[in-house]
Amino acid sequence: MSKRKLITAALPYANGPLHIGHLAGVYIPADVYARFQRSQGRDVAFIGGSDEHGIPITIRAKKEGITPQDVVDKYHEILKSSLEELGISFDYYSRTTSKKHSEVSQGFFKKLYDTGKFNEETSEQYYDVQAQEFLADRYIVGTCPNCGQDGAYGDQCEKCGSTLSPRELLNPKSMLSGEVPVLKETKNWYLPLEQYHDFLDQWILQGHKADWKPNVYGQVKSWLDQGLRPRAMTRDLDWGVPVPLDEAKGKVLYVWFDAPIGYISFTQEWAEKTGKNWKDYWQSDSSELVHFIGKDNIVFHCIIFPAMLKAHGDYILPTNVPAFEFLNLENDKISTSRNWAVWAHEYLIDFKDQQDTLRYALLSSAPETKDNNFTWKEFQTKNNSELVGIFGNFINRVAVLIHKYYEGKIPTYSPESSELKEIVKATEEITNFLEHYEFRNALSALMNLARFGNQYLQTNEPWKTIKTDPEKTAQTLFVSSQIAAALAHLCEPFMPFTSKTLMAQFNLEKTLWTDLPSVFLEAGHQIEEPSLLFSKIEDEAIEAQIQKLQNTKSDNTKTNPNAKAMKDEITYDEFVKMDIRTATILEAEKVEKADKLLKFKVDTGIDVRTVVSGVAESFTPEECVGKQVSILLNLAPRKIRGIESQGMLLLTQKPDGKLAFVTPEINVENGMEIN
Ligand code: 2FM
Ligand code: ZN
Repeated sequence: MSKRKLITAALPYANGPLHIGHLAGVYIPADVYARFQRSQGRDVAFIGGSDEHGIPITIRAKKEGITPQDVVDKYHEILKSSLEELGISFDYYSRTTSKKHSEVSQGFFKKLYDTGKFNEETSEQYYDVQAQEFLADRYIVGTCPNCGQDGAYGDQCEKCGSTLSPRELLNPKSMLSGEVPVLKETKNWYLPLEQYHDFLDQWILQGHKADWKPNVYGQVKSWLDQGLRPRAMTRDLDWGVPVPLDEAKGKVLYVWFDAPIGYISFTQEWAEKTGKNWKDYWQSDSSELVHFIGKDNIVFHCIIFPAMLKAHGDYILPTNVPAFEFLNLENDKISTSRNWAVWAHEYLIDFKDQQDTLRYALLSSAPETKDNNFTWKEFQTKNNSELVGIFGNFINRVAVLIHKYYEGKIPTYSPESSELKEIVKATEEITNFLEHYEFRNALSALMNLARFGNQYLQTNEPWKTIKTDPEKTAQTLFVSSQIAAALAHLCEPFMPFTSKTLMAQFNLEKTLWTDLPSVFLEAGHQIEEPSLLFSKIEDEAIEAQIQKLQNTKSDNTKTNPNAKAMKDEITYDEFVKMDIRTATILEAEKVEKADKLLKFKVDTGIDVRTVVSGVAESFTPEECVGKQVSILLNLAPRKIRGIESQGMLLLTQKPDGKLAFVTPEINVENGMEIN
């Protein structure tokens, strides 16, 4: 087993924050793996960064009316700090807009170009004459040729799920100008993937059938069975890494060409900062490369990037690509556009200092082999019954009893090795599971050790034997404290914050798992006063999260996204108490020293009264005189700026934010009831 591990986690697009699907499917497992490899004494480079190029970024910029650079600056910071706060222990986290990344990806492209690895092809692509831009697939909409749905994209129909190419769309329109695009010739550089078919077949299908996950293997097989086709590695876009060729002005590298090279350029940045040699990780047989990704990235990491690496020739290939399936939320697909998600940055505010609870809950339902589901209720149960009830409870009992009977010092006892065998067994199991990317099993093995600890205390009842057989109590608490200390080490990859607290509580030194002693805590070793590792999550906190999702659901059915949620229901009797009438404004004037107020004299049909209203930013007094309006007559009079206002004029808001009076459809007599 090699000593050096190069671990990468898919680069998140810097066009939005992270949600639990990203965490469960990529970042938390990758982090567990990296921490575990460090615990084995291996030389680890855990590399990540933000994917800042490509269409997702430019689409977000257009939506928000800001530049792509503004978009990536904003989201890179959000992504980076969420990952840090969740304890994702990247050795280096960078971004694909860095100077180094541009140089490295251009250098990579140039090497392939110079060694004749690309095919140059001129083809006709859709072009928006008005916007003067070639249109990326996502910028063309039209009617789906398969299901007839309007608004299908140039690469996919979201209604029927079929993969499309822009030329297949019926009635294509540019999303930039709304105009019908024209076809225009353009030259691009293609990687002839079909030439790598045999290499991929040999390497993955023949070589990794046994050790790669079936979902990854299956997807690769199906791509290869369908036959590979050349893929353009350059694009006609103005956001990305410029193609380093004089004849390619205005073109950038395909985002899936530059993004995975990010793993290489970021390793180089890291090596420069730390005095390491990046080639030890990327160009040495003693290094193993592992990519953590979601299932939608399989083709890029198992076919396109390896073909690029092979074409280049100087790099190692991944040893494994443990791709995860998708996580659903409350039995519904996580969706950024529908806001159906639990966002990492919001969780970190709502559940402060409970990062390990999320890590634990997501790992225990990680979509390892099939799509899985996250529910808030289950999250609560996992915290309250497992972390508080089993893990935390065991540690607390041990620490409390050692303080109660031995002033916080480990009692004297010489254990038989058979008494510590559960620790050895758990360590071996966790190690073995993690070597094979079986995160859920590894986590179960960890919890089983805590479970065993609780049973052991329950069976031996040291609180009873202290009176009848104090030596037995010493034995029980000696063994229990070894289990607690083992848990402090073994939980580190999964729950690093808890591990840190536990190590401090038991005054432990961090030790490689390969060097774990048979006895962690010698007799007489002082431990600190116990403090609670986990706290119970109350029903209200869970209900608030469920409510938040329900609000999202009702937001999604709105025909107007700006419409506010409905107020609490009232009865008919409550409604008819309001006396709303038609009235006409007779006079209007500004209220002194109040920019927003106008004072009106209003004919209500039953009297002429004074009403003060906050409409001065929407109307001049002159515009108001003569207007028929609706007035709530029986509102209790109130003094506004010293003037008694005797009623309220009904108003609504126009799209430009200005106010408008609510008037009857036709002019009617004053004093007519509105109901
Ligand atoms: O799917 C995604 O979110 C991509 N941004 C992943 C890129 S991974 C890598 F290749 F850089
Ligand atoms: Zn369709």
